[in-house]
Amino acid sequence: MTGVTILGTGSYLPEKVLTNQDLERMVETSDEWIVTRTGIRQRRVCPPERAASDLGTEAARRACEDAGIPEAEIDCLICATITGDRPFPSTACTIQRKLGINGIPAFDIQAACTGFLYGLELARVLIVAGGYKRILLVATECMTRITDYTDRSTCVLFGDGAGAAVVGATQGQNTGLLGSFLAASGEHEDLVYVPAGGSRLPASVETVQQHLHYLRMEGSTLFKIAVASMSESVRTLLQRFQIKLEEVEIVIPHQANLRIINGVAKNLGLPPEKFYVNIDRYGNMSAASVPVALDEASKQGLLRSGQLVVTVAFGAGLTWGANLIRWNR
Ligand code: ACO
Repeated sequence: MTGVTILGTGSYLPEKVLTNQDLERMVETSDEWIVTRTGIRQRRVCPPERAASDLGTEAARRACEDAGIPEAEIDCLICATITGDRPFPSTACTIQRKLGINGIPAFDIQAACTGFLYGLELARVLIVAGGYKRILLVATECMTRITDYTDRSTCVLFGDGAGAAVVGATQGQNTGLLGSFLAASGEHEDLVYVPAGGSRLPASVETVQQHLHYLRMEGSTLFKIAVASMSESVRTLLQRFQIKLEEVEIVIPHQANLRIINGVAKNLGLPPEKFYVNIDRYGNMSAASVPVALDEASKQGLLRSGQLVVTVAFGAGLTWGANLIRWNR
């Protein structure tokens, strides 16, 4: 049987920075509140003339370069996003056109902040059971496009960016992407969502006037579920592989709130230093948060061959999960 691994990673962050001080001029908030309640100091903003596919294409090119694999050798393209360029066609197809790699399957998946983790597991299964060899997984978000900058309870949280990975076959069994734990609970679908713009409530003058195309969420309820479900994801995944928590060298968590990350660390009894954190610079980039963090940790030399790396995330759906990787680059 074939093993599966991450052959290369890439990320792309738009240049424009939105600071807490900028937000202080837009809504009734303070740098002090935002930093102490969330850990966020600034986030990136996609310029008006660009969209999720543009960020995703840059991240994808960088991942292919990092893997040393020409884009022409990719045999499947998966894009995780909740802020795609248009309702259809898929953002994956737009990225495919920009990369000039027509003819291979390309499709979007939607699991909000857990999208990259769902995508990694899907890529693993497609390689093991479907015969694919080099899958390009892109997670790209323009969260600022669905953020209501009159709502202080959400507008301080989100930012734009993209991350990508080339996933491919590898020799050996106990190396690379070992497996995943994935879950969802649709009963909580209304805890974080965009009310309008789909078939339930199509766009109209009223929906625009009522700000129904922006993200809404119940922050404090989500907070508790996030800490519990992320901790449970890691525990369940490690139990399945009979691996002890202390064997995990580094955790790449979704970056929704620094207090959530610290809560998960405390719950698991792991030192917070084992959790890679970049929320101070980028805020919550939904599906893009984990791959951007993974790429940064890799480029900073924090991931060494043989180490056990765990990704863990939680997001709208609700969805949650974790991937277990024995880093082999
Ligand atoms: N500035 C100043 N005060 C604020 C702000 C702000 N930006 N936002 C809220 N407040 C106030 C509230 O009005 C409230 O005031 P009150 O006590 O007078 O009513 C007070 O601060 C506390 O509000 P809470 O909502 O209870 O604050 P909390 O500590 O829960 O922090 C937060 C809010 C940051 C949203 C937190 O709940 C959180 O991070 N939740 C999780 C979000 C999450 O995980 N999202 C992931 C899904 S997103 C996706 O999938 C796309």
